[in-house]
Amino acid sequence: MARDQRPVSCELNGEIIDPSNSPNVSAVRWYSVSLLEIYYPITSPFFGMQEILSMDVSSGDEEEEESEYRIRFGDQIKYIIVQGGIFDEDTRSSMPDLLAALPRLPNGDWTTARVSKAAHRDTITYQLSYRTLDRITTLWHPTKIDVQSLSVIKRHNKWVCSVTPAPASNHTFDFERAILKIARFELEIPILENETALYQIIHTKCPGLAPRFLGHVVEHERAMGFLLEFIEGRRAGVEDLEGCQKALKRLHSRRILHGDVNRFNFIVSEGGRIYLIDFANSKLDASEEEMRKEYEALHRQLAKESNSKSTLRSPTDRPV
Ligand SMILES: Nc1ncnc2c1ncn2[C@@H]1O[C@H](COP(=O)(O)OP(=O)(O)OP(=O)(O)O)[C@@H](O)[C@H]1O
Ligand SMILES: [Mg+2]
Repeated sequence: MARDQRPVSCELNGEIIDPSNSPNVSAVRWYSVSLLEIYYPITSPFFGMQEILSMDVSSGDEEEEESEYRIRFGDQIKYIIVQGGIFDEDTRSSMPDLLAALPRLPNGDWTTARVSKAAHRDTITYQLSYRTLDRITTLWHPTKIDVQSLSVIKRHNKWVCSVTPAPASNHTFDFERAILKIARFELEIPILENETALYQIIHTKCPGLAPRFLGHVVEHERAMGFLLEFIEGRRAGVEDLEGCQKALKRLHSRRILHGDVNRFNFIVSEGGRIYLIDFANSKLDASEEEMRKEYEALHRQLAKESNSKSTLRSPTDRPV
C-alpha cells in the first residue's frame, strides 16, 4: 500500500486548510493513501469488530453529496465522510456492504477519515484528520457517562433511544432504563448544546417539569449528548389540554419559549403527570407575543393526528 505522508490541502467543515501555512498544522495531520483493493471484511485484524452506529446517507451521486458515518472500530469510535458517487445507494445505506466497501483504515488516534476518489485515477483514497471534534461545553451536571457503557433497547428517532447499562460496563447506574439523546455528527452539537443548557435552567427554575437530567454523555471524553430519566407514559392529546396548558404556562412564567410544541413533546405519565421534553428549539427571554402564539397553538397541536416530522434517516441507522 502506497503511503504519502506529505500534508495536502483539504477541506474541513467547508474551510480549505493548507497545512503548510495553517496555524492549526500541529492539530491536523493528514495522510493520503491509494488503494487498489477496496473489499474489506467486517472483522478487521486492526480493529476487531466494526459496526456503524449512526449514518447520514446522501441520496445523490454528485461528488459533493457526501454521506457521513459514525463507526465503532473495536473500542474506538471514528467518523467517516464518504464523497458522493463512490458507492451506489444500496452500499451507502447498508451496514455490511458499506463496511466491506470502505478502504482499510489504520489504527491510531485519528478522529475523521475522508474517503474520496483519487483525481484522474480509478482508485479510492482517504485522508485522516486528527482534529479535535466539536463538543458540548455546557457541562453543568456532575455525572459523566461513557456512551459505550450503554446498550440500546429501543430507537425513538435518529438521535434518541432508550438505553440500559451495557452488560460489560464498569459504571454503576441507578437506572434500568433511560433516554439517551446524542449529537451523531458535529453539525448537531449546537442543537444539543442549547438543549443541555436549557435542562440546567429547567432543573433549577422549573423542577419536575421535565424528566430528570441524569448526566452528560461522553464519547472518548468528548461530551456529545445527555441521559434523561425515562418516563413511562403516552403522548398527549386534546383530552390533556388543561394539564399541558399548565405545564406550558410554567415554562412561560420563566420567559422560556418551548419552540416545538406538539403532542409528542408532552409525556403523560402513567400516574397522569405531564412532562415537557425536547428543548432543542427552546429560547430564553422570549417575548410576550411569542409566548402568546405558542400557548394559543397548543390546542391545535394536541388535536393533530400525527407529527409530520419523520426523523429516521435509514433503517440501519443504529445508535449508540
Ligand atoms: N424522557 C423520556 N421518557 C420517555 N420517552 C422519551 C423521553 N424523551 C424522549 N422520549 C421519546 O423520544 C421521542 C423523541 O425525543 P425528542 O422529542 O427529545 O427528540 P427530537 O428528535 O428532538 O424530537 P422530534 O422527533 O420532535 O424532532 C419522544 O417523542 C418520545 O417518544
Ligand atoms: Mg420531539
